[in-house]
Amino acid sequence: MSIVVTGATGHLGRHVIEQLLETVPAEQVTAVVRTPEKAADFAAKGVKIAVADYNSPETFDNVLAAGDKVLLISGNEFDKGRPAQHQVVIDAAKAAGVALLAYTSAPGTLTAALADDHRSTEKALLASGLPYSLLRNGWYNENYTENLAPALEHGAVVQAAGDGRLSTASRADYAAAAVAVLTGEGHENTTYELGGDEPWGFAEYAAELSRQTGKEIAYNAVSVEALTGILTGVGLPAPLAAILAGVDASIEKGELLVTSGDLARLTGRPATPIAESIAVALKG
Ligand SMILES: NC(=O)c1ccc[n+]([C@@H]2O[C@H](COP(=O)([O-])OP(=O)(O)OC[C@H]3O[C@@H](n4cnc5c(N)ncnc54)[C@H](OP(=O)(O)O)[C@@H]3O)[C@@H](O)[C@H]2O)c1
Repeated sequence: MSIVVTGATGHLGRHVIEQLLETVPAEQVTAVVRTPEKAADFAAKGVKIAVADYNSPETFDNVLAAGDKVLLISGNEFDKGRPAQHQVVIDAAKAAGVALLAYTSAPGTLTAALADDHRSTEKALLASGLPYSLLRNGWYNENYTENLAPALEHGAVVQAAGDGRLSTASRADYAAAAVAVLTGEGHENTTYELGGDEPWGFAEYAAELSRQTGKEIAYNAVSVEALTGILTGVGLPAPLAAILAGVDASIEKGELLVTSGDLARLTGRPATPIAESIAVALKG
């Protein structure tokens, strides 16, 4: 029996593997990766490395085994049909007879187009009849704090979310929840709505940035159309820009507010506040 993590060399996957290694022996952990060179540090620690690609079903032959607990980390190739990619892992898990297939999804309240792939994958996972756990991750603090340069340069946080608030947490927090589900008992057929403890809005975010940098940084609330134009202006493909700007419309409606308390319950500690992630990003 192994704990198997796909997308293991991504940002979230790295946190999951590192935290698993604090809890279980390395030989019980399998990292599924596309590029083994990127996983050399895991291999050096004794983690098993399996090379597979969501685009090639045959690469998943023999990767999963009966009794495994598997974390399917959603892919990031928006143009390649993520539901079909995720189906490849679901089919392989079904054929192997895994004990649990956990999937990193999006909040159940999110109606933005970005959630469509997640809803399709959830449906496929439920239809498979496998023991599942839906880890409906809210937004990452890092979605904002890893891209501080434009706000610092222009003295403005530009979003299209009006006065909307959202419940974010750090990737490490969501990874801790996944590790709790993969290493704990009784998580079969569960749905967790995961998000931070203290919701915040972009005016507060700009104020916190001002406080920590000593610079005047304002929140410039623009329309979804204007934000789409700004994102295409910095080189994003138009469909992706529209999808990302569409998330702000959902934030304004409160669709990324998470009130379940599931994240803190699973991890046994409060989530990382946005101010802490800002401080980490400013130091880095
Ligand atoms: N909740 C949020 O705020 C939020 C924000 C952004 C993304 N997400 C979702 O959560 C996922 C994890 O987040 P993250 O920050 O870890 O994203 P990330 O760093 O972009 O990681 C994506 C992972 O998916 C793997 N992957 C992509 N296409 C694949 C394929 N065809 N076959 C096998 N593996 C493939 C990547 O492999 P490589 O390492 O080889 O590139 C990478 O490990 C994202 O992929 C996305 O679906 C959520």
